[in-house]
Amino acid sequence: MDLGVFTKDFKIVRSKYDKFKQINRFVELVDQSLRDERAETIRILDFGCGKSYLTFILYYYFAVRRGMKTEIIGYDLKADVVRRCSEIAARYGYDGLRFEVADVTRDRLADTKIDMIVTLHACDTATDYALAYAIRHGVKHIFSVPCCQHEVNLSIRRGGELDLLLEHGIIRERVSALLTDAVRAAVLEDAGYAVDVIEFIDFEHSPKNLMLRARYTGRRKSAGRARAEALREQYGFQQSLLKLIENG
Ligand SMILES: C[S@@+](CC[C@H](N)C(=O)[O-])C[C@H]1O[C@@H](n2cnc3c(N)ncnc32)[C@H](O)[C@@H]1O
Repeated sequence: MDLGVFTKDFKIVRSKYDKFKQINRFVELVDQSLRDERAETIRILDFGCGKSYLTFILYYYFAVRRGMKTEIIGYDLKADVVRRCSEIAARYGYDGLRFEVADVTRDRLADTKIDMIVTLHACDTATDYALAYAIRHGVKHIFSVPCCQHEVNLSIRRGGELDLLLEHGIIRERVSALLTDAVRAAVLEDAGYAVDVIEFIDFEHSPKNLMLRARYTGRRKSAGRARAEALREQYGFQQSLLKLIENG
């Protein structure tokens, strides 16, 4: 109710219905992946948490439902939402849940062992910084729903067999978004993650409905990244995750 998703008589606020469906499905997928893990503690970072519907539900799932010692940090650029989310967390006594104002593309983030990162519609390259953080810090679980993949669309130029896909603005935009996420999946696989790319929710609840779900196994599948680099060479696009990982 405090987050504005439910009315006083526990009906879903109409304008929040799609968000409600998204966060429910997100938590279902987290549950599917972690249900059998026996760890008693978990530390999670949420990149671009915004109003933090997902962050609160995840905290509830791990801390209250599963009784685990849970720490979650939600990062966002906006001081007002961070303040409001902090107030709500305090009101519920959610001691392990905190929110920080941070630009995840620039600022120094948590430097302790993190078990999971989540991103739900973190804008454009914020997703790449989240994934790069996960790779560098050996984070075991990644659940990432990208959004606004502008970077490739703005930088790609013609150069090969895929040219036909770049002729019309809408097609180019969609192809660029898919290419972005294909590159991200390849970089994660190259770094030792098993990656599923799934439609996490029906299109009617969000057109931005691809999730990269990844689990660190240590088994590298390295050809994907080289192929992504070759495509980048040919088409001249910029892709932040590739660059961040190349820069170490
Ligand atoms: C579309 S909202 C999604 C919020 C939330 N994850 C959700 O699904 O309800 C994207 C959020 O990412 C935040 N954001 C975008 N770029 C960011 C950055 N570089 N660092 C931190 N937060 C960022 C925005 O302020 C915004 O709150």
